[in-house]
Amino acid sequence: MLKKWLSYILPITIHEKKSQISKNIEVTWNNGKLVIDSENTNYSYGSLQKVLRSGLYSIGKQNIAKMNTILVLGVAGGSVIKTLVDEFQFKGEITGVELDKEITAIANQYFKLNEITNYTPIIADANEFVKSTTENFDLIIIDIFQDATMPDFLFEKQFISNVKELLNLKGFILFNTMNLDEKGINKNNRFIASFETSNYIIKEFKNIEVFNELILVEKIS
Ligand SMILES: C[S@@+](CC[C@H](N)C(=O)[O-])C[C@H]1O[C@@H](n2cnc3c(N)ncnc32)[C@H](O)[C@@H]1O
Repeated sequence: MLKKWLSYILPITIHEKKSQISKNIEVTWNNGKLVIDSENTNYSYGSLQKVLRSGLYSIGKQNIAKMNTILVLGVAGGSVIKTLVDEFQFKGEITGVELDKEITAIANQYFKLNEITNYTPIIADANEFVKSTTENFDLIIIDIFQDATMPDFLFEKQFISNVKELLNLKGFILFNTMNLDEKGINKNNRFIASFETSNYIIKEFKNIEVFNELILVEKIS
């Protein structure tokens, strides 16, 4: 409790672990809140949670209440899952796919993700998961980073086409991206172009936090 209060003056790291995927994972008290950071960016429960929360509000509480299945690609500490369960009172099934075992253990130890009864964790590569799953989803949240880098597969035709296949009619894709340069902007534009047909509505939300851009896709037919 003392660390929580002291963290209003200075961030206090209480757990640190090397990770092959994210270089370094830190659990830190920051302004009275427990957050997860990788070496160079916030991963869960800080600015990242605000970005995804604003994406969920853009979809709307009413739309989310009608959903049955949500897929989260990239879980870390699961802050978007907590937002869905605690703030949106989402009662349907949530499946989360996370590559890093270490961060999953941290999510359970510090954020009690394993106590959420309508949440199923899967330790796997999201790129492989979308190739092989037979399930369909009403909302697919893509939030995959390896430290501050987004893996290339996220922008490849195969991944995008697999994700499209998994999305139910009237469903949404919420894609969290970080644009640090021209190359990143071009990648996002290519991602958006692959949905530019009459079947989808696309919205972009820029600078919710510095560099973040959210892409929201709705499947209308
Ligand atoms: C920004 S964090 C996710 C935060 C989370 N969505 C939340 O709401 O708190 C990015 C996560 O993507 C995971 N990741 C990176 N590559 C992955 C892959 N190929 N498949 C699944 N997860 C991956 C990282 O291990 C990291 O935990």
